[in-house]
Amino acid sequence: MPELLPQRQDPDSLMLTGFWYRALPADRVHRKELYKATLLEIPLVIGRDRLGQPFALRDSCPHRGMPLYCGRFDGENLECGYHGWQFDVHDGQCEFIPSLTADQHMKVDRIYAGSYACEEQDSFVWVFIPDPAPPGAGFAPRTEPPDAAPLLEKFSEKYKLAYLQAEMPVSIDHGIIGLMDPAHGPFVHQAWWWRSRHSIHEKQKNFEPIPNGFRMSAHTPSTNSAPYKLLRLYADADSITTTIDFVLPNLRTETIRAGKYWFSSLTTVTPISRNHCRIDVVAAWNLFRWVPFVPRLMKFVFAKFVEQDRRTMELQAEGLKHNPHLMLIDDADRPAKWYFQLKAAHLEAKRNGAKMKHPMTGPVTLKWRS
Ligand code: FES
Ligand SMILES: [Fe+2]
Repeated sequence: MPELLPQRQDPDSLMLTGFWYRALPADRVHRKELYKATLLEIPLVIGRDRLGQPFALRDSCPHRGMPLYCGRFDGENLECGYHGWQFDVHDGQCEFIPSLTADQHMKVDRIYAGSYACEEQDSFVWVFIPDPAPPGAGFAPRTEPPDAAPLLEKFSEKYKLAYLQAEMPVSIDHGIIGLMDPAHGPFVHQAWWWRSRHSIHEKQKNFEPIPNGFRMSAHTPSTNSAPYKLLRLYADADSITTTIDFVLPNLRTETIRAGKYWFSSLTTVTPISRNHCRIDVVAAWNLFRWVPFVPRLMKFVFAKFVEQDRRTMELQAEGLKHNPHLMLIDDADRPAKWYFQLKAAHLEAKRNGAKMKHPMTGPVTLKWRS
């Protein structure tokens, strides 16, 4: 029997540390310039050195807290605008304190501005947000990430790539469960060229556990959307399969394969602050690569979708202001439940230093109408 579980949502959604997050689109970060960004309520200053290598520092001078964004950057060192302390932008190490006299032998290289591992990957500058450092920051080099920033999977040498983003005035949790929620499609994403609300029908999908997340197993996409019909025709492929993965803390990967053609996307929901997140979608594909207007068309379609989600969450934020009781129902909200369980299991494993206990024990079939 389907169960109805009224579940109180924690409005001050925890933001998970110890992961890579997308900070800024790479094409907006120019050499020798400084940019502000916020991730998990941490103020950052981001830039690119003379060689084009990106970096991220905490936007606060370890001396007296002046935003480093207001300093001077010559492409190598960043000089604080208050007392001129200079820092290496890549590791944050202090290089020079102008007020020291020749006989004052302070070890300036033991001082660090907060520094974050930073990588450019698939159109974005990614920043690794480590678990909170013990107090005494200012004298500690940064924590190195255990692995590289997430990569968008590509299945051929040549492809097109595009990104888009949208800011949502809701917490990370609402952003993420909004993204994985199948039941809003017929109501939020209506368009004559996509689908109408009358095309709603029963669906059944198989899910399986994967490390740190779950997968909607390879399946033939729903037949009630025009682009898939078009794709089937164009690719001349009998089978079109879609796989959708969700992996903590915020990664949704979708892969569509039809014969030699493929489409791949990596969507992230990034916590900016407690009540604010941002959706970034990066997609790559090798379909229609040589048809000039297609990238623009794809971007238009995606932008439309993301805008519909953004507008919906903006309205939802109104309703959430007064902290209402919320509920998650089976089966349509089961992925959302898994998300909360995964998050709790992750935190629990961290607390007791044990291996994370996955909330799913095996494959599950879910049914809903959408
Ligand atoms: S506050 Fe930055 S040098 Fe003093
Ligand atoms: Fe949506």
